[in-house]
Amino acid sequence: MLVVSLWSNAMLQTSSSSPFPPSANSSPIPTGTCWLTIPTVVGNPGLNRSGLSTMAEHLSQSELNYPFKLLEYFNGFRMSKVIFSACEQGVFDLLMQSQKSLSAAEVAWKLGASEDGMERLLDALVGAEVLEVELNQGTGLFIPAYYSNTDVANLYLAKDSPKSLYDMIIYQSQTIYPLWNNLGDAVREGKNQNEKTFGLSSEDIFSAIYRSEDEMLKFMGLMNSSWVIDGHDVVTAFDLSRFKSIVDVGGCSGALARELSKAYPASTVTVLDLPKVIQTAQKHFCQSDDTIKLQEGDFFKDDLPAADLYVLARIIHDWKEEKSLPLLRKIHAACNSGGGVLLIEAMLFENHRGPIMAQLFSLNMLLQTEGKEHSPSHYTHMLNGTGFSDVQVCRTGKSYDAILALK
Ligand SMILES: C[S@@+](CC[C@H](N)C(=O)[O-])C[C@H]1O[C@@H](n2cnc3c(N)ncnc32)[C@H](O)[C@@H]1O
Ligand SMILES: *[C@@H]1O[C@H](CO)[C@@H](O)[C@H](O)[C@H]1NC(C)=O
Ligand SMILES: *[C@@H]1O[C@H](CO)[C@@H](O)[C@H](O)[C@H]1NC(C)=O
Ligand SMILES: *[C@@H]1O[C@H](CO)[C@@H](O)[C@H](O)[C@H]1NC(C)=O
Repeated sequence: MLVVSLWSNAMLQTSSSSPFPPSANSSPIPTGTCWLTIPTVVGNPGLNRSGLSTMAEHLSQSELNYPFKLLEYFNGFRMSKVIFSACEQGVFDLLMQSQKSLSAAEVAWKLGASEDGMERLLDALVGAEVLEVELNQGTGLFIPAYYSNTDVANLYLAKDSPKSLYDMIIYQSQTIYPLWNNLGDAVREGKNQNEKTFGLSSEDIFSAIYRSEDEMLKFMGLMNSSWVIDGHDVVTAFDLSRFKSIVDVGGCSGALARELSKAYPASTVTVLDLPKVIQTAQKHFCQSDDTIKLQEGDFFKDDLPAADLYVLARIIHDWKEEKSLPLLRKIHAACNSGGGVLLIEAMLFENHRGPIMAQLFSLNMLLQTEGKEHSPSHYTHMLNGTGFSDVQVCRTGKSYDAILALK
């Protein structure tokens, strides 16, 4: 029981009571509070060895008695698949639409699944605290059980909720999960596993990611859904209202651009992305009240439009520095004076101790791209080396952080 609840806490509490504090010896940051750090301070983490080692010893001491956390980690992939399969089979949608709780037999019948398999899946979801169960009076050995969604499942797992993470789950299940099966090879070879996993050239990463129209839509769905939970925090990590023209470089479906436009209605926000991405964004992701502009272009080959602020969300982490540094230089050259650049990435701690989410993202970048995640001091160094100054770092305490630098 303890194993499951520890696991589900780690899995579900991605935000407020963050299991990933900003540094190993300070308390978690409250939601919505920006953790402003001056890069020189961040760059020299001032490791308080006594504080850190006390924490590490405390964790490993309890593990010596019984390895709860290790066992939880061993089972992580099973737990992921439980959620993914339930999403893919429409369990959360059915339970959300249903006016009353349903038995395993009813769920199985409506979704065309086996009753025995569905009952075990539903029970695992109850154990993970994603579903609720009520038991009725039965006769003899048979005690009927009726399942319903928790509020968390209704909010994040059902397809039609405004905060649905369904598209993120589909991408994780169908693309990320098979890639991670080749993690050992990725570590040995030091390169992405697109070729082994999907039979695609590992050189041109976006032609692998966009290998079919369907894959492109799934990837754009993943990008779109991340900003449902993190978008507002990253665009308000700094007051950006003085930047009147903003370009979201590699802005994909436009989800983050919409958050920028909502937070800064007096600014114009333009999404720049590859032609086929912009066309797909127009076709599938546009909203009737859209205030953002879409522009086709290749940020490596084409001139960039002039702007006050360039946003690069999850762009730098895709590329080798021989590509990302020239891109930053090009942005610096195109930028209006007094303007700047906002990087949005999951930043590693300087001291190698986390956040575990960013460390896992960095392995994911190894599996899928040619880039990696970095620490604030590394981004600061890249920005300084490409002409930017006044670098400010904001840790949100959630998945993605922000760095602002000025021209
Ligand atoms: C990891 S995604 C990030 C998307 C978006 N910024 C976000 O965080 O949701 C990288 C984006 O860069 C775009 N991209 C890749 N190469 C590009 C290029 N040469 N020119 C313009 N956009 C490019 C991709 O199409 C994709 O939308
Ligand atoms: C380091 O942490 C210990 C214990 O938490 C504390 O007593 C000490 O003052 C800290 N040292 C510094 C330099 O912050
Ligand atoms: C993109 O995300 C928004 C929520 O921010 C959602 O309402 C919309 O349906 C998503 N678009 C697509 C095509 O998935
Ligand atoms: C980069 O850092 C160096 C050393 O701190 C400093 O002298 C230089 O002015 C910085 N460059 C920019 C563009 O801020």
